[in-house]
Amino acid sequence: MQSHTLCLLPGDGIGPEITAQAVKVLDAVNTAFGHSLTTRTALIGGAAIDATGVPLPQDTVEICKQCDAVLLGAVGGPQWDTIDRDIRPERGLLGIRKELGLFANVRPAMLFPELAHASFLRPDIVARGIDMLVLRELTGGIYFGEPRGFSTKNGEDMALNTMTYKRSEVERIARIGFETAMKRSKRLCNVDKANVLEVSQLWRETMIHMAADYPEVELTHLYVDNAAMQLVRDPSQFDVIVTGNLFGDILSDEAAMLTGSIGMLPSASLGDVGPFLYEPIHGSAPDIAGQDKANPLATILSLAMMLRHSFAMFDEAQALEAGVRHVLKAGYRTLDIMEEGQTLIGCEEMGDRVAQTLISW
Ligand code: IPM
Ligand code: MG
Repeated sequence: MQSHTLCLLPGDGIGPEITAQAVKVLDAVNTAFGHSLTTRTALIGGAAIDATGVPLPQDTVEICKQCDAVLLGAVGGPQWDTIDRDIRPERGLLGIRKELGLFANVRPAMLFPELAHASFLRPDIVARGIDMLVLRELTGGIYFGEPRGFSTKNGEDMALNTMTYKRSEVERIARIGFETAMKRSKRLCNVDKANVLEVSQLWRETMIHMAADYPEVELTHLYVDNAAMQLVRDPSQFDVIVTGNLFGDILSDEAAMLTGSIGMLPSASLGDVGPFLYEPIHGSAPDIAGQDKANPLATILSLAMMLRHSFAMFDEAQALEAGVRHVLKAGYRTLDIMEEGQTLIGCEEMGDRVAQTLISW
């Protein structure tokens, strides 16, 4: 029996409804395995702006730090698009990553056999399989580099962002990349733009240097433009990709879409010490918010990642993943993964059905 408290950050759009399903499933894990996993809830994103005027209230940071792990829904929506750029909802997400020191973002992209038809790739390409993981540096690079901002030069408006990486920042993400590769197929693909950017040259040089500590891992390198192309040409060639913040943002969306079901994919953001943060990789989908149409499975699978990484609950995580597969096998689908001949259900029912598989586990 284990006791932990998780901080829920439901956020905006479909965030509240998908995190509510994860809580249902969490209760079922408690019942099935005799744990005491409890939750606290805090504000982030647009919801926090509306309630407090800022996207990441200090209270939220403190509650997160008091908890053992954080589960986030999604942030953002059109109603905050015109807001002062310093308090955009996204700032809440970037802020909590930085506050918690979560420099490593793990985004697995795999094809659920039940959903293979949903991929946009040709069936013969899909048949080779997709099971990769994008490891994205999350607290550095152009997202956080200084100087940044708006100014005027010779009477003209201009804006500036800076892509920076210190060697130590590359080393720590590289280490996680190599460790992850050791646990999988021992292949690590570094993605950068070292043919143009100095920051990528330092990045690549550091990757190569670190490789000496991991003689069993085969390290390869791709420029980001080529990587984007190879991902659609033949995703089966990839296992672990390690890359910087901006490239990882872009490539992880691309990798997710290859599986055809962005509504299915979880992520974990890790640092040197917890609490770690888990979130679905899809966004807040304001167009379907509050209509019981969202797919809660990415959030539920993010919870599974939490059980495994934060609490070493391996059986529980596996039970949860098996539960998701079971419900898919039984033909239940939310709108985003619906196909002919299957049964369309809502967000609530999907949560109920996965929870039910645990009770009878
Ligand atoms: C992501 C998102 C965020 C990012 C946004 C919402 C700030 O796109 O988690 O990939 O760019 O990191
Ligand atoms: Mg993104």
